[in-house]
Amino acid sequence: MIGRLNHVAIVVPDLDTAATLYRDTLGAKVSAPAALPDHGVTTVFVDLDNTRIELLHPLGGDSPIGQFLERHPDGGMHHVCYEVDDILAARDQLKAQGARVLDSGEPRTGAHGKPVLFLHPKDFCGTLVELEQV
Ligand code: CO
Repeated sequence: MIGRLNHVAIVVPDLDTAATLYRDTLGAKVSAPAALPDHGVTTVFVDLDNTRIELLHPLGGDSPIGQFLERHPDGGMHHVCYEVDDILAARDQLKAQGARVLDSGEPRTGAHGKPVLFLHPKDFCGTLVELEQV
């Protein structure tokens, strides 16, 4: 069902510091920050040969990652995103096997303009899983 690893998302307390770390210390290709008000985050994309890292920082007062940063003040890994061909078929198959889909259960438009869903971390080894239809 799942295909490629699309990205790993890391919440960071300071985007400039994190972007500098990935660009200058690790020598990666790093984008300019992009504000995504619909998602309550500002992102910096790190392009690697085989996948991406998304550095996330809260945007606005009720950001979904605000609490994460309170619990993990140094930042930390937030989710992994796997690609699927058909997000509704994947959702229905996973629900039939007892997995919980977060929020309404309907796909939303993700950070790359593609439909995404999130799966409950308790059902996937303690890891928040994003599915993205590509
Ligand atoms: Co993501």
